[in-house]
Amino acid sequence: MFTGKGGVGKTSLAAATGVKLAALNYRTLVMSIDPAHSLGDSFDLETDLFHLQTSDPLQVGDRLWIQELNIQKEIKRHWQEISAYVTSVLRTTGIGGVEAEELAILPGMEELSAMMYVNQYRREQRYDVIVLDAAPTAESMRFISMPTTLDWYMKHIFPFQRNFLKAVRPIANRVAPFELPTDSYFLNIRDLFGKLEGVDEIMEDPAITSVRLVTNPEKMVLRETERAFVYFSLHGLTVDAVIVNRLLPHEVNDAWFNEWHISQDRILHEIEEYFAPVPVKRVPLFSHEVLGRQRLEELAGVLYPAGEDPSAVTRTEKPFTFGKQNGAYEVRVLLPFATKGEIGLFKKGDELVVEIGTLRRHIGLPRSMAGLQPARARLENRVLTVEMKEAQ
Ligand SMILES: Nc1ncnc2c1ncn2[C@@H]1O[C@H](COP(=O)(O)OP(=O)(O)O)[C@@H](O)[C@H]1O
Ligand SMILES: [Mg+2]
Repeated sequence: MFTGKGGVGKTSLAAATGVKLAALNYRTLVMSIDPAHSLGDSFDLETDLFHLQTSDPLQVGDRLWIQELNIQKEIKRHWQEISAYVTSVLRTTGIGGVEAEELAILPGMEELSAMMYVNQYRREQRYDVIVLDAAPTAESMRFISMPTTLDWYMKHIFPFQRNFLKAVRPIANRVAPFELPTDSYFLNIRDLFGKLEGVDEIMEDPAITSVRLVTNPEKMVLRETERAFVYFSLHGLTVDAVIVNRLLPHEVNDAWFNEWHISQDRILHEIEEYFAPVPVKRVPLFSHEVLGRQRLEELAGVLYPAGEDPSAVTRTEKPFTFGKQNGAYEVRVLLPFATKGEIGLFKKGDELVVEIGTLRRHIGLPRSMAGLQPARARLENRVLTVEMKEAQ
């Protein structure tokens, strides 16, 4: 899964990765779940003809397919009952027609639809690798937290709502200004939920799913990448590469770019320090846009030097995890090497900073822990466990 801020190069890198995988004999699907689809453009296909076809996997080469999620089509396929109900409720408030249909596209439908496909393709063993060209970071975070949220809804709210409505519908429908949802609405939800079953396990298994964060060597972009890293770790996804795209090549030595060179070098250093031990890949700014097959191959060549397999599992260990033991919050940090000696711990803003010798690790804390202070730490088998407590 490739994710990152808008415009950093997710689509280009995902498409290039797809090209490389197909060349390595994998049956590969590149699936775009960013509503701002540009996968087709990336392959420089005849777009008019093309956008009508990519809502289903479209073969664009040997062993290579692309799919762009089309929410209108998905609604017809999966969300009929739910959106029909929402539309009917809206109609009673005077909102009708296209506007109601537009509003009946609820947040998350795209992400959930994409997950259903991932689940389905995996069950069918239809592809060897699926490359997800994900939406910008914020939506991708919603994407990964969806299964847990839904699980909670299905366990706690769904049965209650359903039974409650069964009981009150005959009376309520006479007095309520709109029809209450019918049983088929609930059946639709349950059916959808069934299609998602197991997808969270797929996503959290580092042997199956990895996240590659795409960033540019700019401070604002980096901040978002760091937040994403924390969030993905929090949700148990493994980030196995950070790709710094559009680095100004050193050949560019016009004085105009002097400051850019300096700031990019500094930020690159910061990136390596922050994400260690996750490998950082660098991709230069090309002299042209990455459009069409040949340029995607060029990009793939830089991204994956000869012999490198983009689908290889390179990291199975999560760099840090958050947990709660006997009511106390804990941060567990995996250290890249076993070490003894002094360990320094302090807070800097919302980050926990761990210092071991000359090694320094910044760990962005989830909101539930951001106000806490490090209290105690112990080191066992390369895992540093830091207890977090309320400040006294
Ligand atoms: N390394 C690069 N050098 C030159 N142009 C690039 C590079 N990476 C991406 N681009 C171009 O930048 C634009 C945005 O890239 P894109 O992959 O669509 O980003 P995103 O999917 O993150 O929004 C595209 O026009 C693409 O061709
Ligand atoms: Mg894109």
